[in-house]
Amino acid sequence: MTQRSINADRLLGHLNALGQIGRDEAGRLVRLAASDADRAGRDAVASWMRDAGLQVVVDRVGNLFGLSHDAAEPGAAPIMLGSHIDSVIDAGIYDGCYGVLAGLEVIQTLRELGITPARPLAVAAFTNEEGVRYAPDMLGSLAYVGGLSVDDALATIGTDGSVLGAELQRIGYAGTAEPGFLRPHAYVELHIEQGPVLEREGLRLGAVENLQGISWQRVTIDGVANHAGTTPMSMRHDAGQAAARVITFLRDRVAGANAPTVATVGCLSFEPNAINVIPSRATFTVDLRDPDETRLLAEEAALARYLEELAIAEEVTISVERLARFQPVTFDAGIVALIEAAAAARGLRSRRMTSGAGHDAQMLARICPAAMIFVPSIGGISHNPREHTPDADLVAGANVLLDTVSRLCAG
Ligand code: GLV
Ligand code: MN
Ligand code: MN
Repeated sequence: MTQRSINADRLLGHLNALGQIGRDEAGRLVRLAASDADRAGRDAVASWMRDAGLQVVVDRVGNLFGLSHDAAEPGAAPIMLGSHIDSVIDAGIYDGCYGVLAGLEVIQTLRELGITPARPLAVAAFTNEEGVRYAPDMLGSLAYVGGLSVDDALATIGTDGSVLGAELQRIGYAGTAEPGFLRPHAYVELHIEQGPVLEREGLRLGAVENLQGISWQRVTIDGVANHAGTTPMSMRHDAGQAAARVITFLRDRVAGANAPTVATVGCLSFEPNAINVIPSRATFTVDLRDPDETRLLAEEAALARYLEELAIAEEVTISVERLARFQPVTFDAGIVALIEAAAAARGLRSRRMTSGAGHDAQMLARICPAAMIFVPSIGGISHNPREHTPDADLVAGANVLLDTVSRLCAG
């Protein structure tokens, strides 16, 4: 029997075209949520959804959907595919976009083949998955599943002082549909792995069975500004020095433990930020992740204890604000098995795996059976313009998504 296949040229064409939208003067891809660049990306994706004959719907937090009502049972709960198209700063072209465009491609392929699925199909591009501009990450999908009120979501203040609701209005993507207006029968998200496992093991595909917990905090250390030349080392209340100690504490503790915990300080700023002034204030973020909730709690507690001791030792004041906290998620075993079977039927060697990154699927898993499919990331690089997945793997992943949707409809 010949296997159905998605249109590889169209999928890769869309991916490369979207990857050119949102470049800054230096040529970097910076398509932060609800920015002008995001608007341009959304406009392109919405027009491709219309080209595919889909109904385009935007909900109140800006989540963008393409809906196909062609179904044996038009009123049935849909199978939803998707991801996000917002990006980090200086991003690669695959993160999120691949899942949205492959979802669209699968639906378009089925429509062109004249196949009427048992259920309606939907593809989603969720708002602010990355969390670079607005915290928490996965904000759009979190609001979609009722984990964050629409009012709170829209009132979120960005790192640039902007308000998400006002920005969505400004770019024309403050929709009217109520988040959660479609309760999916199942949600499947195709994504690049963003890590080294598949490539290292020579595998083509990952069936993602769980996703690690994520803890985001912002730490503010207040010391005393003073003269860099005249203040003896013993008389300083140096917020910068204290921040550096936290960074090395995290690194030493986590790297020294025999556990998969990871810790990152990705943002750091000093005030007044002058070469000859001892920093009066240091502000930085801590991203802690672990697949085990008990261990993640223990790591958070260890950091809190260290900050208390440090405040005394360095004679500074330390405050902590929580930006995001999501527990580890276990995906639906039935869908994971379907993905594995679909990969095997296409002769693709696969394994089950844990997602190190956060994804919209972890939110959708709160309201419906959900799972993810990973394809290899060369060198395990992501959140970097060097992010790369070979075309053949992108196409293979999209075909496994196609087969998974067909199997879900059949089941
Ligand atoms: C999203 O990319 C994350 O931070 O995991
Ligand atoms: Mn992503
Ligand atoms: Mn990302």
